[in-house]
Amino acid sequence: MPAVEIKPDVYWIGVNDRTTDLFEGLWPITNEGVSYNSYLIDDEKKAIIDLTKSFKGDEYLNQIDELIDISKVDYVVVNHMEPDHSGILRTLKRIAPQVTLLGSAKTKEMLESFFSIKENVRVVNDGDTLSLGKRTLKFFSTPFLHWPETMMTYEVSQRILFPCDAFGGYGAIRGAIFDDQCRDFEFYEREALRYYVNIVANFSARVLGAIEKLAGLPVDVIAPSHGLIWRKNPSRIVELYKKWAEYAKGQTEPAVTLVYGSMYGYTELMMNAVAQGISQADVPLEIFDAARTHVSYILPSLWTKRGMMIGAPTYEVSLFPPVEDVLRMVAHKNIKNKKAAYFGSFGWSGGARRGLEKIVEPLKWDLVDVFEFRGYPKKEDLKKGEEFGRKFAESIKKESF
Ligand code: FEO
Repeated sequence: MPAVEIKPDVYWIGVNDRTTDLFEGLWPITNEGVSYNSYLIDDEKKAIIDLTKSFKGDEYLNQIDELIDISKVDYVVVNHMEPDHSGILRTLKRIAPQVTLLGSAKTKEMLESFFSIKENVRVVNDGDTLSLGKRTLKFFSTPFLHWPETMMTYEVSQRILFPCDAFGGYGAIRGAIFDDQCRDFEFYEREALRYYVNIVANFSARVLGAIEKLAGLPVDVIAPSHGLIWRKNPSRIVELYKKWAEYAKGQTEPAVTLVYGSMYGYTELMMNAVAQGISQADVPLEIFDAARTHVSYILPSLWTKRGMMIGAPTYEVSLFPPVEDVLRMVAHKNIKNKKAAYFGSFGWSGGARRGLEKIVEPLKWDLVDVFEFRGYPKKEDLKKGEEFGRKFAESIKKESF
């Protein structure tokens, strides 16, 4: 994509990634893509805010070259060191060796450990400003959004906030880069939530802290380093992030996520009965087959919903591994405050329940009900399963955290 002027002298110079399959080598983006948004301020001093991954280097550097002489860039602001925003730094430094890198004290350490860069690094602290000529940058320390070194940059004269990962999302830019041009909010909001839960959610308290810290700052444009640029309604993405961050405290939606796995269809048969029961209670329900759905797509449902129904057979005296894998990621992401129930088939000794308890006990989930059955579910088992689902859903409706 060619550069886009977002305000006088300020340009989006990002790169759209539609060919990487796994973001961070972990989260699928094959169908959605992602953008690495980078920004150029063309003033008396030339500054680039955040870079891009070491990817499509020609495209990225040519974009800059069409606007300015790239060898004369004065500053690169490194809001965040993760290589999706810093990977092309060494290449840029070969072209513009005089460039001064601006970042937090931790960024300085990481520049050395990641790229062996020690020269021309200037540490900026919370509240520091830098005049570029007509435009002035101000820096805000916002650690753990999403790594400890992260900061945000604010352009004072045109009230543009560059928050890097915060307020970003998956999803390559589909032509329209601004919120007011976007006709597919459903896609970007869904992908912003998935990105939030996959990448940022573990740091939700920091998200709320940063939103509070910047609450008095007049912001006309939010220009994150992934996804849409918000200029018509910047508060929309801030409110969404605030809502999602508050879910970490347990104020989630009265709805149920049902994650199940089944080897020969016995637990799946029961899953359908349990789902019928949940629906009878008129509680929203999302169902995921753990063996066929990447956990990246399951986590947003788990994050936002109060109830977690788990269906899995016993497998080698423990929980069926695809379901166990989902729960291990849930534990890794430290997702707490869930009300849960478990059902599943066993052949002889059982053991899935013990496997489940070992994972969820440290998360302090409230495991309110368990329904195990032997082998193929009989008619009376299915009836019990339906009632089991209905009772659980009713309890979710009543519960308030
Ligand atoms: Fe988009 Fe934490 O990097």
